[in-house]
Amino acid sequence: MRQAGRSLPEYRALRGEGSILDAIQDPGLSAEITLQPVRRYGVDAAILFSDIVVPAAAIGFGVDVTPGIGPVVAEPFRSADDLRRLRPFEPEVDAPYVAETVRLAVKELDGTPLIGFAGAPFTVASYLIEGRPSRTYGRTKAMMHGAPDLWRTLLDRLADMAITSLLSQVEAGASAIQLFDSWAGALSPDVYEDLVMPASAKVFAALEATGVPRIHFGVGTGELLALMGAAGADVVGVDWRVPLDVARDRLPGKAVQGNLDPAVCLAPWEVVAERTRDVLRRNGGRPGHIFNLGHGVLPELDPEVLKAVVDLVHEEGRCDG
Ligand code: CP3
Repeated sequence: MRQAGRSLPEYRALRGEGSILDAIQDPGLSAEITLQPVRRYGVDAAILFSDIVVPAAAIGFGVDVTPGIGPVVAEPFRSADDLRRLRPFEPEVDAPYVAETVRLAVKELDGTPLIGFAGAPFTVASYLIEGRPSRTYGRTKAMMHGAPDLWRTLLDRLADMAITSLLSQVEAGASAIQLFDSWAGALSPDVYEDLVMPASAKVFAALEATGVPRIHFGVGTGELLALMGAAGADVVGVDWRVPLDVARDRLPGKAVQGNLDPAVCLAPWEVVAERTRDVLRRNGGRPGHIFNLGHGVLPELDPEVLKAVVDLVHEEGRCDG
């Protein structure tokens, strides 16, 4: 989960000040940060320490990640002219440190799987167009509906960027990949299906031959779950807004990932434990459930609570497949 490490004192100590993009460019540091949550929590997989805007930043689009805000773009994508600034991403040339981090982390993980990831075309486009995190996605939707040809070209380029990035991570040793379409929940199903799903489907199709499990993640995507599965994912992320048993009914034949509300972890332990058990109960022992939080760890969360959640899931979920 994004920012699993953010609440850890050892993360803050190692990461220091400065842009997260600088930390990501240091494979030794990034591999160590990748391992921290595994050591601390005993989770069953690690997620690569990187960010969804790394490829766009690496080709010089002018993206930074501002602490407390998120991705910020100096000159946002506004017209067909900006396509010139979006050249193809060559992982081994533009961002060799990512594959190097994967190689180092995989070696140190010693059998614990590493999940590689990329931003989905829609979510990355929303940052490039808005220039910073948005609540309404006004400019993004204006382009989707007002300049659909430009929009489709942009999404296709971002799909290619995700594909080359993910293939290089798998090549370097990642055992699963996750496509983060965190903000797709801002869309209605018909708009998603017409203007977003084809680009994400292109990414999943390109990864099929690798044979690694493909996870598709979003927040507030209850109405999109079936489409997100149909885009070609093997596993679909579910946030806490949809009970896991309901989500499973919407996703026949797919594995699911989720779905404890991260904010629930701030409640008294008995409540956290009950909500954790409720997620497992709703899965009902069906195979193909990755237990996790519906979204990122809140920075103020006490790491001891997460450790206790992981232990509880390991105890209770032993026959959960
Ligand atoms: O758990 C991890 O640390 C794994 C590595 C990881 C990061 N970002 C590092 C990070 C992953 C998997 C991501 C993905 C990511 N980045 C997503 C998709 C997943 C999701 O949570 O929805 C998105 C939307 C981003 C963009 C982004 N980067 C945001 C919104 C923020 C938060 C800004 C803030 O400070 O609240 C970031 C910064 C960021 N990326 C942090 C980390 C650990 C935290 C701040 C820091 O250490 O600088």
